[in-house]
Amino acid sequence: MTSSRVSIVSSVGPEVARNIRTDGMNRVVDSVEIEAEASGIIFAEEFAAIERLRDPAVQAVFVRPSRRPEWEERLGAVVESGAFRFERLTLPTARIEELPSILEASLPEEGLAFATRLALIDDIAVMADELRQLAGCNSVLLRVLVEAPTEICGFHIDTVGPGLPPFGLLKVYNGEATRYVLARDMPDMGRFYDYLGKRERLSAEWRAALQKEDAAAADRRRSSMLNLDEMLPFLRKGAKVYRTPPGAVVAFRHLDVRELWNLHPSGRTWLHCSPMSGTPRLVVNLSPANPRTARRR
Ligand SMILES: [Fe+2]
Repeated sequence: MTSSRVSIVSSVGPEVARNIRTDGMNRVVDSVEIEAEASGIIFAEEFAAIERLRDPAVQAVFVRPSRRPEWEERLGAVVESGAFRFERLTLPTARIEELPSILEASLPEEGLAFATRLALIDDIAVMADELRQLAGCNSVLLRVLVEAPTEICGFHIDTVGPGLPPFGLLKVYNGEATRYVLARDMPDMGRFYDYLGKRERLSAEWRAALQKEDAAAADRRRSSMLNLDEMLPFLRKGAKVYRTPPGAVVAFRHLDVRELWNLHPSGRTWLHCSPMSGTPRLVVNLSPANPRTARRR
């Protein structure tokens, strides 16, 4: 394994993170302070702050309440024990007002206490309403999943359809948080797209080899893939990888899909990556949808 020139730290604002254990591409660091003002990342306790995402110099706003509600702890416990699990839900919603009833009908009841389920539905509805205000949209695409992290995907960009407002919301309710890098640490998007192209090809070949039960070929692809993640060749020397605060709602800049693979400025979007190992996590992702395609299924 190549030695890493990239360290991962927890994005804790002015707080100090001690003895953070990390995995894969990472190594342990004792503490860090992120210079929030110059980083393009905003830390906040109130949803009102997500308006700051309209500033083109801001890539993401983390809304983290000073104290997490108790139901989230109960939710995390049933997700991690496997009691609450379901097939990934992809729910286009023509009108945000319909979202609570769509979730009521779609989210499984098994494994989740009644009050916790209601609190989760309410939480998602609040996020959708915040997205409506930020993006000026009334149609959203909601994705809800309970899955253990995998190595399939590395650092990537989330996109919206052509001409849609380039914003979306993400919340990880439990487990390992999302990783991200700062726009100022990426001098050249060409190098990022070079990484992304290689990473996607290796991942596809790795899965194909696994399917063919060709263990040697699969091992070779996986090791090249992980080596690429260890190096993160698109980052400037000494750049860090950060983690979002636990339980935060992340409002972040998406990319118009027509710009993907183009040499746009790095600050046009928020580069991030899920953890690649750990317990199952409940993840909610909301982005604007085209009202013509957002139909209830
Ligand atoms: Fe993503």
